[in-house]
Amino acid sequence: MNEELRKLRDQALAGLQAASDADALEEWRIEYLGRKGTVTNLMRNIGQVPFEERPAYGQAANALKGELTDAFDARQQALVQESLAAEMAAEGVDVTLPGRRPQLGGVHPSNQTLREIADIFATMGFQVYTSRDVETDEYNFELLNMPPGHPARDMWDTFYTTTPGVIMRTHTSPGQIHAMKELGPNKPIRVILPGMCYRYEQVSARAEMMFHQVEGLAIGRNVTMADLKGVIVEFANQLYGAGRKLRFRCSHFPFTEPSVEADVDCILCGGTGCAVCKYTGWLEIMGAGMVHPTVLRNGGYDPAEWSGFAFGMGPERITMLKSGISDIRYFFGNDLRFLEQFG
Ligand code: DAH
Repeated sequence: MNEELRKLRDQALAGLQAASDADALEEWRIEYLGRKGTVTNLMRNIGQVPFEERPAYGQAANALKGELTDAFDARQQALVQESLAAEMAAEGVDVTLPGRRPQLGGVHPSNQTLREIADIFATMGFQVYTSRDVETDEYNFELLNMPPGHPARDMWDTFYTTTPGVIMRTHTSPGQIHAMKELGPNKPIRVILPGMCYRYEQVSARAEMMFHQVEGLAIGRNVTMADLKGVIVEFANQLYGAGRKLRFRCSHFPFTEPSVEADVDCILCGGTGCAVCKYTGWLEIMGAGMVHPTVLRNGGYDPAEWSGFAFGMGPERITMLKSGISDIRYFFGNDLRFLEQFG
């Protein structure tokens, strides 16, 4: 390599080292390796070199071009690395820090109980039927044997809407009529109806204005009170543990005849008496009864041929008893400290 080329090489390499960003690098490339760059021109000028020296000159010029091209690529790589490192340093990412875990949601305690109830009734052939939250007075009351002005309506404090006759359902019982109309007539039915209910309540530790219920309905040609008792006893034993004692008390609901309320022996004291069962030894778990002939007829069934039983229970109440929760307002207070306990 002659002196001139060596000088050019040193100068180019020094310039390359000095190029500290993409723009400077591009300027350098144009200056040395571009179409009219110094190194490119070396080949063009070969004609001015004495004839005998041309092969050596050509080789040296080519070698220089190759060397500078490689050096350029290396410098470009190095600059990319440098700027990446600078960017990372600026963002201050410490990759050794532990990650932030996404917070996982859980199943709401009410829904856990609803699922448990649905699983138990599934073992007895009950399917889940869902029915609407916004109801008509007709379905919520009239078709359930409570015509306008019926005193039993007082048992349900109702939310009315601005549309006359349209209300928020106060219980899941109107779903019985929907189920009968949709699945019947003249066909047996075995369904549970879980859902939210709404009441114009003075909110307290024992009463919320929204809560769940699970309704049950079984209709067949020979369904009797014995079937009702068998199903409830089986349900209570699966939910609260084997060997539970059940008690059926006479009661009154306009949509069942006869009507009962079912009690289970207190799951806390086992029947000896405690604060939870108010020293009675019993806990009320549901209302139930044989579907009233008028209700069967309203659902499209002939009470001379068909009979059925129904029941209704509150999963929040069940959860409160099972988990020792003293205030129903926790369920819809959205307080994570409460909800996380049911993770
Ligand atoms: N709907 C009643 C209530 O909200 C509960 C109930 C009682 C439902 C007896 C029934 C039943 O199906 O047979 O208080």
